Amino acid sequence: MTEDPLRCTRCDLCETRKNVVIQRGLQLSTFIIVGEAPGEDEDTHGLPFVGRSGRLLDKCLRAAGIPPEATTITNVIRCRPPENRRPTEVEINTCTYWLDNFLRARRPHLITALGRFSIGYFKGYIYDHTAKMTVRHAVGVPFKTSRLGDDTTVMPSWHPAYLLRTGGWAVEALIDHLRKARELHNRLARHL
Ligand code: URA
Repeated sequence: MTEDPLRCTRCDLCETRKNVVIQRGLQLSTFIIVGEAPGEDEDTHGLPFVGRSGRLLDKCLRAAGIPPEATTITNVIRCRPPENRRPTEVEINTCTYWLDNFLRARRPHLITALGRFSIGYFKGYIYDHTAKMTVRHAVGVPFKTSRLGDDTTVMPSWHPAYLLRTGGWAVEALIDHLRKARELHNRLARHL
């Protein structure tokens, strides 16, 4: 029997979540955005990036000439960690079973990774959720991930929640990274 992703019980987050949060936007876009984990609004609605971070993300996408509804938006983790704490290594390693399959089924041309957990997933970092890992050196520099086994390009950028805390320059940086991601994508695929 195939496992129902909406009833996943692979880790303890299933005990506290309201909804499994999988994706919004196009079912099969070749431009995929991967965030971190659902927050309270996402847990309530069962959709990723529908709270304050999501509204800012959509604004940045539009400013970069990308209709949010033409992309597929998802997260590294599908269930909300209690109190919005950072996901643990066990949760990430368990839940990315789903993300691996999700991405392999879509074979995206371009992935935008938002924040350290998403960037770390594609770079193959060893997680230490208690450490203060910085991705300052990585953002804005596209790289190829071996995670999907076929050289998919990843554009790493700031997480919108960081933008909400930092404002100004980081918002401009995300818009700039999204524009570059769109150009890279459009060289490989039909235009967004
Ligand atoms: N932050 C994320 O990383 N993902 C969401 O879906 C919402 C907030």
